[in-house]
Amino acid sequence: MRKPVKEDKFTFGLWTVGWQAVDPFGDATREALDPWEYSDRLAELGAYGITFHDNDVFPFDASDEERDRIVSRLKSAVDAAGLTIPMITTNTFTHPLFKDGGLTNNDRGIRRFGLKKILRNVDLAASLGAKIFVMWGGREGAEYDSSKDLNAAFDRYKEGLDTVAGYIKEQGYDLRIGLEPKPNEPRGDIFLPTVGHALALIAELEHGDIVGLNPETGHEQMAGLNYTHALAQALNAGKLFHIDLNGQSGIKYDQDKSFGHGDLSSAFFTVDLLENGFPGGGPRYEGPRHFDFKPTRTEGMEGIWEAAAANMEMYLRLAEKAKAFREDPVTKQLMEAASIPELAEPTLAEGESYADFMASEDIDPEAAGKREYHYVELYQQAMRHLIG
Ligand code: GCO
Ligand code: MN
Ligand code: MN
Repeated sequence: MRKPVKEDKFTFGLWTVGWQAVDPFGDATREALDPWEYSDRLAELGAYGITFHDNDVFPFDASDEERDRIVSRLKSAVDAAGLTIPMITTNTFTHPLFKDGGLTNNDRGIRRFGLKKILRNVDLAASLGAKIFVMWGGREGAEYDSSKDLNAAFDRYKEGLDTVAGYIKEQGYDLRIGLEPKPNEPRGDIFLPTVGHALALIAELEHGDIVGLNPETGHEQMAGLNYTHALAQALNAGKLFHIDLNGQSGIKYDQDKSFGHGDLSSAFFTVDLLENGFPGGGPRYEGPRHFDFKPTRTEGMEGIWEAAAANMEMYLRLAEKAKAFREDPVTKQLMEAASIPELAEPTLAEGESYADFMASEDIDPEAAGKREYHYVELYQQAMRHLIG
Protein backbone atom coordinates (compact mmCIF):
# COMPACT_ATOMS: atom_id res chain seq x y z
CA MET A 1 0.00 0.00 0.00
CA ARG A 2 1.50 3.35 -1.00
CA LYS A 3 1.85 6.15 1.53
CA PRO A 4 -0.44 9.20 1.40
CA VAL A 5 1.10 12.20 -0.39
CA LYS A 6 0.15 15.89 -0.64
CA GLU A 7 -1.43 15.30 -4.07
CA ASP A 8 -4.07 13.12 -2.37
CA LYS A 9 -5.34 16.34 -0.72
CA PHE A 10 -6.04 14.79 2.68
CA THR A 11 -6.92 17.43 5.27
CA PHE A 12 -7.73 17.28 8.98
CA GLY A 13 -9.56 19.60 11.37
CA LEU A 14 -7.45 20.71 14.33
CA TRP A 15 -10.46 19.77 16.47
CA THR A 16 -10.18 16.14 15.30
CA VAL A 17 -6.65 15.17 16.31
CA GLY A 18 -6.92 17.83 19.02
CA TRP A 19 -10.07 16.39 20.63
CA GLN A 20 -9.42 15.68 24.30
CA ALA A 21 -12.27 13.19 24.41
CA VAL A 22 -14.58 15.00 26.81
CA ASP A 23 -18.04 13.47 26.44
CA PRO A 24 -21.32 14.03 28.33
CA PHE A 25 -20.34 11.28 30.79
CA GLY A 26 -16.64 11.70 31.24
CA ASP A 27 -13.66 13.98 31.54
CA ALA A 28 -10.83 14.39 29.07
CA THR A 29 -8.69 11.30 28.54
CA ARG A 30 -6.00 13.14 26.60
CA GLU A 31 -4.02 16.31 26.99
CA ALA A 32 -4.26 19.21 24.56
CA LEU A 33 -1.30 20.28 22.48
CA ASP A 34 -0.85 23.84 21.25
CA PRO A 35 -2.45 24.42 17.84
CA TRP A 36 0.94 24.72 16.12
CA GLU A 37 2.06 21.32 17.46
CA TYR A 38 -0.12 19.29 15.08
CA SER A 39 1.29 20.38 11.71
CA ASP A 40 4.58 18.46 11.69
CA ARG A 41 3.00 15.17 12.65
CA LEU A 42 0.19 15.53 10.10
CA ALA A 43 2.67 16.47 7.37
CA GLU A 44 4.79 13.44 8.27
CA LEU A 45 1.75 11.21 7.87
CA GLY A 46 1.19 12.62 4.37
CA ALA A 47 -1.55 15.20 4.93
CA TYR A 48 -2.04 18.18 2.63
CA GLY A 49 -3.56 20.68 5.03
CA ILE A 50 -5.30 21.57 8.24
CA THR A 51 -8.61 23.30 8.95
CA PHE A 52 -9.93 24.86 12.13
CA HIS A 53 -12.60 26.79 14.02
CA ASP A 54 -11.52 30.22 15.25
CA ASN A 55 -11.56 28.96 18.85
CA ASP A 56 -9.56 25.80 18.13
CA VAL A 57 -6.70 28.28 17.75
CA PHE A 58 -7.34 31.31 19.98
CA PRO A 59 -9.64 31.77 22.99
CA PHE A 60 -13.21 33.09 22.65
CA ASP A 61 -12.25 36.27 24.49
CA ALA A 62 -8.85 36.83 22.86
CA SER A 63 -7.88 40.44 22.16
CA ASP A 64 -7.02 41.35 18.54
CA GLU A 65 -3.36 41.43 19.48
CA GLU A 66 -3.46 37.99 21.11
CA ARG A 67 -5.42 36.58 18.20
CA ASP A 68 -2.94 37.90 15.60
CA ARG A 69 0.03 36.60 17.57
CA ILE A 70 -1.41 33.08 17.93
CA VAL A 71 -2.64 32.90 14.33
CA SER A 72 0.71 33.99 12.94
CA ARG A 73 2.50 31.38 15.05
CA LEU A 74 0.14 28.73 13.69
CA LYS A 75 0.60 29.99 10.12
CA SER A 76 4.40 29.78 10.47
CA ALA A 77 4.15 26.18 11.70
CA VAL A 78 1.77 25.28 8.86
CA ASP A 79 4.08 26.90 6.28
CA ALA A 80 7.18 25.26 7.74
CA ALA A 81 5.49 21.86 7.53
CA GLY A 82 4.54 22.53 3.90
CA LEU A 83 0.81 22.31 4.66
CA THR A 84 -2.11 24.48 3.51
CA ILE A 85 -5.25 25.89 5.19
CA PRO A 86 -7.99 25.33 2.59
CA MET A 87 -10.97 25.67 4.94
CA ILE A 88 -11.91 27.61 8.07
CA THR A 89 -15.07 27.46 10.16
CA THR A 90 -16.55 29.34 13.13
CA ASN A 91 -17.42 28.08 16.57
CA THR A 92 -20.95 29.27 17.31
CA PHE A 93 -21.74 26.39 19.63
CA THR A 94 -19.38 26.09 22.64
CA HIS A 95 -19.96 29.30 24.59
CA PRO A 96 -23.13 29.24 26.74
CA LEU A 97 -24.33 32.36 24.93
CA PHE A 98 -24.93 30.20 21.85
CA LYS A 99 -27.07 27.62 23.68
CA ASP A 100 -30.11 28.62 21.59
CA GLY A 101 -28.11 29.16 18.41
CA GLY A 102 -26.20 31.97 16.74
CA LEU A 103 -28.16 32.84 13.60
CA THR A 104 -31.57 31.62 14.80
CA ASN A 105 -31.40 32.53 18.50
CA ASN A 106 -34.66 34.07 19.74
CA ASP A 107 -32.51 36.81 21.31
CA ARG A 108 -31.69 39.44 18.67
CA GLY A 109 -28.66 40.74 20.57
CA ILE A 110 -27.14 37.25 20.50
CA ARG A 111 -27.84 36.91 16.78
CA ARG A 112 -26.01 40.20 16.14
CA PHE A 113 -23.10 39.01 18.30
CA GLY A 114 -22.98 35.66 16.48
CA LEU A 115 -22.99 37.26 13.04
CA LYS A 116 -20.14 39.60 13.96
CA LYS A 117 -18.09 36.65 15.21
CA ILE A 118 -18.69 34.91 11.88
CA LEU A 119 -17.81 37.99 9.79
CA ARG A 120 -14.57 38.48 11.72
CA ASN A 121 -13.74 34.86 10.96
CA VAL A 122 -14.53 35.40 7.26
CA ASP A 123 -11.82 38.09 7.28
CA LEU A 124 -9.42 35.64 8.90
CA ALA A 125 -10.27 32.90 6.37
CA ALA A 126 -9.62 35.27 3.47
CA SER A 127 -6.36 36.53 4.99
CA LEU A 128 -5.07 32.96 5.33
CA GLY A 129 -6.02 32.08 1.75
CA ALA A 130 -8.76 29.59 2.65
CA LYS A 131 -11.22 28.97 -0.20
CA ILE A 132 -14.04 27.35 1.75
CA PHE A 133 -15.87 28.73 4.77
CA VAL A 134 -17.84 25.95 6.48
CA MET A 135 -20.96 26.77 8.47
CA TRP A 136 -22.23 23.98 10.69
CA GLY A 137 -25.26 25.26 12.57
CA GLY A 138 -25.02 22.73 15.37
CA ARG A 139 -26.93 24.92 17.85
CA GLU A 140 -29.47 26.18 15.30
CA GLY A 141 -32.46 24.14 16.33
CA ALA A 142 -34.58 23.19 19.31
CA GLU A 143 -35.45 20.54 21.85
CA TYR A 144 -39.04 21.74 22.26
CA ASP A 145 -41.44 22.50 19.41
CA SER A 146 -43.01 25.22 21.55
CA SER A 147 -39.77 27.20 21.76
CA LYS A 148 -39.59 28.76 18.30
CA ASP A 149 -41.53 30.70 15.71
CA LEU A 150 -40.28 28.29 13.05
CA ASN A 151 -41.20 30.53 10.13
CA ALA A 152 -39.17 33.35 11.65
CA ALA A 153 -36.32 30.92 12.43
CA PHE A 154 -35.97 29.99 8.75
CA ASP A 155 -36.18 33.68 7.78
CA ARG A 156 -33.39 34.50 10.24
CA TYR A 157 -31.32 31.53 9.02
CA LYS A 158 -31.60 32.82 5.46
CA GLU A 159 -30.89 36.40 6.57
CA GLY A 160 -27.78 35.23 8.42
CA LEU A 161 -26.43 33.23 5.48
CA ASP A 162 -27.14 36.04 3.02
CA THR A 163 -25.41 38.50 5.33
CA VAL A 164 -22.27 36.35 5.40
CA ALA A 165 -22.36 35.62 1.65
CA GLY A 166 -23.09 39.29 0.85
CA TYR A 167 -20.14 40.35 3.00
CA ILE A 168 -17.83 37.92 1.17
CA LYS A 169 -18.92 39.46 -2.14
CA GLU A 170 -18.66 43.06 -0.89
CA GLN A 171 -15.12 42.44 0.28
CA GLY A 172 -14.27 40.68 -3.01
CA TYR A 173 -13.01 37.57 -1.21
CA ASP A 174 -12.39 34.37 -3.18
CA LEU A 175 -14.36 32.33 -0.68
CA ARG A 176 -17.42 30.08 -0.86
CA ILE A 177 -19.66 28.88 1.98
CA GLY A 178 -20.19 25.16 2.67
CA LEU A 179 -23.27 24.40 4.81
CA GLU A 180 -22.96 21.27 6.91
CA PRO A 181 -26.26 19.50 7.62
CA LYS A 182 -26.82 17.30 10.68
CA PRO A 183 -30.12 15.90 11.97
CA ASN A 184 -29.51 16.28 15.72
CA GLU A 185 -26.82 16.56 18.41
CA PRO A 186 -26.20 18.85 20.15
CA ARG A 187 -29.79 20.12 19.59
CA GLY A 188 -32.71 17.72 19.81
CA ASP A 189 -33.56 18.71 16.23
CA ILE A 190 -31.17 20.78 14.16
CA PHE A 191 -32.47 23.01 11.33
CA LEU A 192 -31.15 21.85 7.95
CA PRO A 193 -31.04 18.21 9.07
CA THR A 194 -29.98 16.76 5.71
CA VAL A 195 -28.31 17.71 2.44
CA GLY A 196 -31.74 17.90 0.78
CA HIS A 197 -33.04 20.43 3.32
CA ALA A 198 -29.93 22.57 2.86
CA LEU A 199 -30.18 22.50 -0.94
CA ALA A 200 -33.78 23.69 -0.72
CA LEU A 201 -32.85 26.60 1.55
CA ILE A 202 -29.86 27.61 -0.59
CA ALA A 203 -32.17 27.89 -3.61
CA GLU A 204 -34.08 30.64 -1.76
CA LEU A 205 -31.04 32.77 -0.88
CA GLU A 206 -30.19 36.05 -2.54
CA HIS A 207 -26.48 35.16 -2.62
CA GLY A 208 -26.98 31.39 -2.98
CA ASP A 209 -24.52 31.26 -5.90
CA ILE A 210 -21.61 31.15 -3.43
CA VAL A 211 -23.37 28.89 -0.92
CA GLY A 212 -23.06 25.11 -1.25
CA LEU A 213 -22.66 21.98 0.85
CA ASN A 214 -20.17 20.30 3.15
CA PRO A 215 -21.87 16.92 3.67
CA GLU A 216 -20.54 14.66 6.44
CA THR A 217 -20.71 10.86 6.11
CA GLY A 218 -21.99 10.17 9.62
CA HIS A 219 -24.52 12.99 9.62
CA GLU A 220 -26.50 11.64 6.66
CA GLN A 221 -26.21 8.14 8.14
CA MET A 222 -27.52 9.34 11.54
CA ALA A 223 -30.70 10.16 9.59
CA GLY A 224 -30.68 6.70 8.01
CA LEU A 225 -29.78 8.22 4.64
CA ASN A 226 -27.34 7.25 1.91
CA TYR A 227 -24.22 9.48 2.00
CA THR A 228 -23.15 8.65 -1.55
CA HIS A 229 -26.57 9.68 -2.84
CA ALA A 230 -26.27 12.96 -0.89
CA LEU A 231 -22.88 13.66 -2.49
CA ALA A 232 -24.35 12.79 -5.88
CA GLN A 233 -27.30 15.16 -5.57
CA ALA A 234 -25.05 17.97 -4.34
CA LEU A 235 -22.71 17.34 -7.30
CA ASN A 236 -25.64 17.25 -9.71
CA ALA A 237 -26.77 20.63 -8.35
CA GLY A 238 -23.24 22.10 -8.67
CA LYS A 239 -23.17 22.47 -4.88
CA LEU A 240 -20.58 20.01 -3.57
CA PHE A 241 -18.08 22.56 -2.22
CA HIS A 242 -16.38 20.47 0.50
CA ILE A 243 -16.72 17.08 2.23
CA ASP A 244 -16.37 15.74 5.79
CA LEU A 245 -15.44 12.05 5.65
CA ASN A 246 -15.74 9.81 8.71
CA GLY A 247 -17.25 6.57 10.00
CA GLN A 248 -20.64 5.86 11.60
CA SER A 249 -22.38 2.62 12.55
CA GLY A 250 -26.06 3.17 11.93
CA ILE A 251 -28.66 5.51 13.42
CA LYS A 252 -27.02 6.49 16.70
CA TYR A 253 -25.23 9.38 18.36
CA ASP A 254 -22.64 11.10 16.14
CA GLN A 255 -19.75 8.64 16.28
CA ASP A 256 -17.22 10.49 14.10
CA LYS A 257 -15.13 7.34 13.74
CA SER A 258 -12.26 7.07 11.29
CA PHE A 259 -13.35 6.91 7.66
CA GLY A 260 -14.73 3.50 6.66
CA HIS A 261 -15.01 2.35 10.27
CA GLY A 262 -18.74 1.81 10.13
CA ASP A 263 -20.52 1.10 6.88
CA LEU A 264 -17.57 -0.11 4.81
CA SER A 265 -19.48 -0.93 1.64
CA SER A 266 -21.03 2.56 1.68
CA ALA A 267 -17.52 4.02 2.10
CA PHE A 268 -16.42 1.97 -0.92
CA PHE A 269 -19.11 3.56 -3.12
CA THR A 270 -18.34 7.03 -1.71
CA VAL A 271 -14.70 6.66 -2.76
CA ASP A 272 -15.77 5.10 -6.07
CA LEU A 273 -17.83 8.24 -6.80
CA LEU A 274 -15.11 10.65 -5.64
CA GLU A 275 -12.30 8.92 -7.51
CA ASN A 276 -14.02 7.53 -10.60
CA GLY A 277 -16.97 9.89 -11.03
CA PHE A 278 -20.40 8.98 -12.32
CA PRO A 279 -20.40 6.10 -14.85
CA GLY A 280 -21.61 8.45 -17.60
CA GLY A 281 -19.31 11.38 -16.71
CA GLY A 282 -20.71 14.59 -15.23
CA PRO A 283 -19.66 16.89 -12.39
CA ARG A 284 -16.66 15.86 -10.27
CA TYR A 285 -15.46 16.83 -6.80
CA GLU A 286 -11.86 18.05 -6.94
CA GLY A 287 -11.50 19.62 -3.47
CA PRO A 288 -9.77 18.37 -0.32
CA ARG A 289 -10.58 14.95 1.13
CA HIS A 290 -11.28 16.33 4.60
CA PHE A 291 -11.54 14.01 7.59
CA ASP A 292 -13.81 15.16 10.41
CA PHE A 293 -13.31 12.29 12.82
CA LYS A 294 -12.69 11.88 16.53
CA PRO A 295 -10.12 9.38 17.77
CA THR A 296 -12.26 7.36 20.21
CA ARG A 297 -11.98 8.13 23.90
CA THR A 298 -10.06 4.91 24.56
CA GLU A 299 -7.10 6.16 22.49
CA GLY A 300 -4.14 7.95 23.99
CA MET A 301 -1.62 10.30 22.42
CA GLU A 302 -0.31 7.51 20.14
CA GLY A 303 -3.78 6.29 19.20
CA ILE A 304 -4.61 9.75 17.86
CA TRP A 305 -2.06 9.36 15.10
CA GLU A 306 -3.02 5.75 14.38
CA ALA A 307 -6.64 6.88 14.01
CA ALA A 308 -5.61 9.82 11.78
CA ALA A 309 -3.49 7.57 9.56
CA ALA A 310 -6.33 5.01 9.38
CA ASN A 311 -8.53 7.55 7.55
CA MET A 312 -6.00 8.03 4.79
CA GLU A 313 -5.02 4.37 4.54
CA MET A 314 -8.68 3.39 4.27
CA TYR A 315 -9.34 5.99 1.57
CA LEU A 316 -6.34 4.88 -0.50
CA ARG A 317 -7.17 1.19 -0.17
CA LEU A 318 -10.76 1.82 -1.22
CA ALA A 319 -9.59 4.01 -4.12
CA GLU A 320 -7.41 1.19 -5.41
CA LYS A 321 -10.22 -1.35 -5.13
CA ALA A 322 -12.81 0.97 -6.67
CA LYS A 323 -10.51 1.59 -9.63
CA ALA A 324 -10.00 -2.13 -10.17
CA PHE A 325 -13.78 -2.66 -9.89
CA ARG A 326 -14.53 -0.06 -12.56
CA GLU A 327 -11.79 -1.28 -14.91
CA ASP A 328 -12.72 -4.95 -14.68
CA PRO A 329 -14.30 -6.06 -18.01
CA VAL A 330 -16.79 -8.16 -16.03
CA THR A 331 -18.01 -4.97 -14.29
CA LYS A 332 -18.33 -3.21 -17.62
CA GLN A 333 -20.35 -6.10 -19.04
CA LEU A 334 -22.65 -6.18 -16.03
CA MET A 335 -23.18 -2.41 -16.14
CA GLU A 336 -23.98 -2.62 -19.84
CA ALA A 337 -26.39 -5.53 -19.26
CA ALA A 338 -28.13 -3.52 -16.54
CA SER A 339 -28.59 -0.62 -19.02
CA ILE A 340 -26.67 1.73 -16.72
CA PRO A 341 -25.23 3.75 -19.64
CA GLU A 342 -28.75 4.12 -21.04
CA LEU A 343 -29.80 6.24 -18.02
CA ALA A 344 -27.56 9.03 -19.35
CA GLU A 345 -29.70 9.18 -22.50
CA PRO A 346 -32.53 11.74 -22.31
CA THR A 347 -35.97 10.14 -22.19
CA LEU A 348 -37.37 12.32 -24.95
CA ALA A 349 -35.52 12.79 -28.25
CA GLU A 350 -34.07 16.21 -28.96
CA GLY A 351 -36.81 18.48 -30.26
CA GLU A 352 -39.44 15.71 -30.02
CA SER A 353 -42.93 17.25 -29.89
CA TYR A 354 -45.54 16.09 -27.36
CA ALA A 355 -47.63 14.86 -30.30
CA ASP A 356 -44.74 12.78 -31.72
CA PHE A 357 -43.89 11.54 -28.27
CA MET A 358 -47.44 10.42 -27.52
CA ALA A 359 -47.75 8.81 -30.96
CA SER A 360 -44.45 6.93 -30.70
CA GLU A 361 -44.50 3.15 -30.60
CA ASP A 362 -44.71 1.60 -27.13
CA ILE A 363 -42.49 -1.13 -25.78
CA ASP A 364 -44.17 -4.38 -24.82
CA PRO A 365 -44.99 -3.89 -21.10
CA GLU A 366 -45.17 -7.64 -20.41
CA ALA A 367 -41.72 -8.25 -21.88
CA ALA A 368 -40.34 -5.15 -20.11
CA GLY A 369 -41.73 -6.41 -16.82
CA LYS A 370 -39.74 -9.58 -17.29
CA ARG A 371 -36.39 -7.99 -18.06
CA GLU A 372 -33.51 -8.76 -15.72
CA TYR A 373 -31.10 -6.21 -14.24
CA HIS A 374 -28.66 -8.48 -12.36
CA TYR A 375 -28.01 -5.69 -9.83
CA VAL A 376 -27.30 -8.27 -7.14
CA GLU A 377 -24.56 -9.81 -9.24
CA LEU A 378 -23.13 -6.35 -10.03
CA TYR A 379 -23.05 -5.49 -6.32
CA GLN A 380 -21.46 -8.85 -5.53
CA GLN A 381 -18.85 -8.04 -8.18
CA ALA A 382 -18.08 -4.83 -6.26
CA MET A 383 -17.85 -6.80 -3.01
CA ARG A 384 -15.42 -9.27 -4.64
CA HIS A 385 -13.13 -6.35 -5.36
CA LEU A 386 -13.71 -4.85 -1.91
CA ILE A 387 -12.95 -8.06 -0.04
CA GLY A 388 -10.14 -8.97 -2.41
C1 GCO B 1 -19.97 17.28 14.08
C2 GCO B 1 -19.56 18.31 13.13
C3 GCO B 1 -18.59 19.30 13.53
C4 GCO B 1 -18.42 20.29 12.40
C5 GCO B 1 -17.41 21.27 12.67
C6 GCO B 1 -17.39 22.33 11.61
O1 GCO B 1 -19.32 16.25 14.13
O2 GCO B 1 -20.99 17.47 14.64
O3 GCO B 1 -18.95 17.60 12.12
O4 GCO B 1 -17.41 18.66 13.80
O5 GCO B 1 -18.00 19.66 11.22
O6 GCO B 1 -17.65 21.78 13.92
O7 GCO B 1 -17.96 23.45 12.10
MN1 MN C 1 -19.99 14.51 13.04
MN1 MN D 1 -18.20 17.86 10.25
